[in-house]
Amino acid sequence: MLLGVNIDHVATLRNARGGVEPDIMTAVRICKECNVASITTHLREDRRHIKDADVEAIRMLPHTRLNLEMAMTDEMQEIALRLRPHAICIVPEKRQELTTEGGLDVEGQLDRAIKFVKPLLAKNIEVSFFIDPDVHQISAVSKTGAPFIELHTGKYSEAFGTMDEEKAFQDLKGAAIFAQNFGLKVNAGHGLNYHNVKRMHEIPNLVELNIGHSIIARAVFVGLEQAVKEMKNLCEQG
Ligand code: PXP
Repeated sequence: MLLGVNIDHVATLRNARGGVEPDIMTAVRICKECNVASITTHLREDRRHIKDADVEAIRMLPHTRLNLEMAMTDEMQEIALRLRPHAICIVPEKRQELTTEGGLDVEGQLDRAIKFVKPLLAKNIEVSFFIDPDVHQISAVSKTGAPFIELHTGKYSEAFGTMDEEKAFQDLKGAAIFAQNFGLKVNAGHGLNYHNVKRMHEIPNLVELNIGHSIIARAVFVGLEQAVKEMKNLCEQG
């Protein structure tokens, strides 16, 4: 499995003092030197961590695959069409949430989703929808033309090590296989850490894991390079 590193929390720390440290581009350079597959950032409506200028600077870097997480809004569509990141992941967004709390309801707004992704696909941007492991959501995504889903691993991550782990894990695994039978490629992420990530190998053909919080949290103690390398090894060990 490939690793996409979500660097949003480097920006969270930077913004805490309103200055420039820690520098986002240094974080990106370290991730790139570790040969991660993608640099992932979520440009939120309230710009609470990553800012427009950060996304633009990352996009301008050569040989850097940018995976831009964004809400399904006109503003974000315009930004994606202008910057043409390699990939986008369409996520739900609520202003008050601490982090992305659940998957996007694609089924409930299928017409809008189809219209939203059409110009993005026409620009050869790899589009993915961030959804819960739910067959209805998967079949809805399959009607949009998007080639990818990203499965929300939050429930599994929270249940890890408890009585509820197996059910949450089997839901993810079943959803991944169901989606692949529809011809969709499957990424996963949210709440994954150095322990619960190991079971992702039991899910066939996952393409990429997008991981942020646990890596940046570990980087506080061991440095970003070490934290990224450790996670990359866990992703690559079959
Ligand atoms: N994937 C998506 C779509 C997300 O929104 C997030 C959180 O921004 C992540 C992955 C990474 O989650 P975490 O920071 O918990 O690793």
